[in-house]
Amino acid sequence: MELFWAAVVGYFFGSIPFSYIIPRLKGVDITKVGSGNVGGTNVLRNMGTKYGALAMFLDIIKAVVAVLIFKTYGEHAMVMAGAMSVIGHCYSPFVKFKGGKGVATTLGTFFGIFPQAGMFALGVWIAIVALTQYVSLGSIVGLLAGTLFALLFGKDYWIVFLGLSLFSVLRHKENIKRLIDRNERKTNIVDYFLG
Ligand code: G3P
Repeated sequence: MELFWAAVVGYFFGSIPFSYIIPRLKGVDITKVGSGNVGGTNVLRNMGTKYGALAMFLDIIKAVVAVLIFKTYGEHAMVMAGAMSVIGHCYSPFVKFKGGKGVATTLGTFFGIFPQAGMFALGVWIAIVALTQYVSLGSIVGLLAGTLFALLFGKDYWIVFLGLSLFSVLRHKENIKRLIDRNERKTNIVDYFLG
């Protein structure tokens, strides 16, 4: 029964579209600007550091909270809550079952279940985005790095981390095409956060 509730609660938390709500409160429809993605990166690019960072933070935190609610029910319930928060984020009833690419919620799931893997994934994300200015590349490699970290530390749930990471990779199809064609958007996060 815990698994059922973990799925429901995880899905609900994940479906709260902070990257849609925050711009909306300022009169911006995030699905109509920039990449159109309901994600923190698109908020950052179109609305600046304050709103972008807030959207990224809340999209991460909603997954962390969903996972931690089930801490007393054990690892399986935590993994279920985290995985379903990613699904909720990507297929949110509040944005017509559309949503983002699942990067922040997957990262939040890593943080909630195995914080060191979350830190590692975030570190890799920051390094790659700072060096290349390609957020999509940082997201893909960062999530896979977090998965590898869980595998190397012998965590059984690495396979779920892999599934979530590959799911997010699939949602980056258009970004990957642009990366190959060398016309992917560049985002100078160093300027946004330290400039
Ligand atoms: O987190 C999503 C990011 O990896 C790519 O977003 O807006 O550049 O397609 P975007």
